[in-house]
Amino acid sequence: MGFSNNFVWGVATSSYQIEGAAYEDGKGLSIWDVYCTQPDRIFEGHHGEVACDHYHRYKEDVQLMKEMGIKAYRFSISWPRVLPKGIGEVNKAGLDFYDKLVDALIEANIEPYVTLFHWDLPYELHKRGGWMNPDSPSWFAEYTKVVVERLSDRVKNFITFNEPQCFIGFGYSQGRHAPGLKQSVRDTLAMAHNVLLAHGYSVKTIRKYAKGEVKIGFAPTGSMNYPCSERKEDIEAARHSIFDMPKEIREDWAWNVTWWSDPIFWGHYPQDGLKLFKDYLPKINEGDMEIISQPIDFLGQNIYTGKEVKADENGEAIYLTRNEGSPKTALSWPITPKALYWGPRFLYERYKKPIYITENGLSCHDVISVDGQVHDPNRIDFLHRYLREFKRAAEDGIEVAGYFQWSLLDNFEWHSGYAERFGIVFVDYQNQKRIIKDSGYWYKSVIETNGEIL
Ligand code: FCB
Repeated sequence: MGFSNNFVWGVATSSYQIEGAAYEDGKGLSIWDVYCTQPDRIFEGHHGEVACDHYHRYKEDVQLMKEMGIKAYRFSISWPRVLPKGIGEVNKAGLDFYDKLVDALIEANIEPYVTLFHWDLPYELHKRGGWMNPDSPSWFAEYTKVVVERLSDRVKNFITFNEPQCFIGFGYSQGRHAPGLKQSVRDTLAMAHNVLLAHGYSVKTIRKYAKGEVKIGFAPTGSMNYPCSERKEDIEAARHSIFDMPKEIREDWAWNVTWWSDPIFWGHYPQDGLKLFKDYLPKINEGDMEIISQPIDFLGQNIYTGKEVKADENGEAIYLTRNEGSPKTALSWPITPKALYWGPRFLYERYKKPIYITENGLSCHDVISVDGQVHDPNRIDFLHRYLREFKRAAEDGIEVAGYFQWSLLDNFEWHSGYAERFGIVFVDYQNQKRIIKDSGYWYKSVIETNGEIL
């Protein structure tokens, strides 16, 4: 027993991080195009103008996936590539690109998973207030319709939003992602409500215009805390530490699970959050929560790390300090494999939807070795440990539907630029040469054995 026979083994990317061709074929600007031109925003002034040049090299990239035996590919669509102004006129060349990509995937027997929004908001819509604008949910629905009408004859899996925690939190509250603003809690809560409404309208639009049966999901993130023992008290403390809202309002308020996922799966905001934010809440119109909670088919969760939790004598969570020298990634994210057991378990117990890990992986200081290969034992070890925990979740009856490794390629890692390498394929940015890393071949054998070797 372990992963089911139809378990989906995939890799993930996002448009701005890999496509490049930022000013080509009629694409409009996104907030990331503009943000990266501002001084001191991104490590060493890097930007996504060329990135991995995937826009021109997608066929080669599909072949790489094929070579590694990848079964599914999660990619995102650049909204301004398809609708340069965000709404209105469709850019035929932009839409054609995704059409050709989907054809290439299907020909290679790789199932496409389309994310509609992975942070590259059209700059023209930003100028009109972006997610603050009450029209933003209908803008997103219009964009959804264009994509679904064109691709849903072949694409059967859609994900509305990637990590609202990050694009609202980092982008509009903490100011370290595009568009780099530090707005009030009142404003960011209003944006969050519009994003949730946009999700709901998008789900309705997908169902209405899809050509055939499709599955719809949502891909949030969060710290997947885990208990330090199997003691009931520790388990409950860990659960609470994931699902309780913080006790006070902080600049990073968006970094939580329930403010986003409770409305979507349960149709209401969490009570403790409503209490916490009572003086700053947006207007919640009648019918809003019903739109937001349109039934969806799966929960995608991006899981990278979590904190170890112990219960104190009152059952409250204490975060255990990590020992000196505990393992961490190149980005200094703590390596905590148990997040991939307890995260899916807690989420499944709460929301009762099949779970996909829509992202998991790490950055390493990868180099091309003297033998011309890229040896990344740290990545293999990380993935091995995390996937073993995920397998344990499957064995314990958690409905785990799939796993998308982040990422297919080394790519533009937001404010870290190209300094961080997350790929199972190395990209030499000087000449765009790709080299499958050792971890890519290792992942191939995991897929071939459906996780037996873990
Ligand atoms: C996630 C993002 C993804 C990538 C990974 C490392 O938060 O969704 O685009 O940057 O982190």
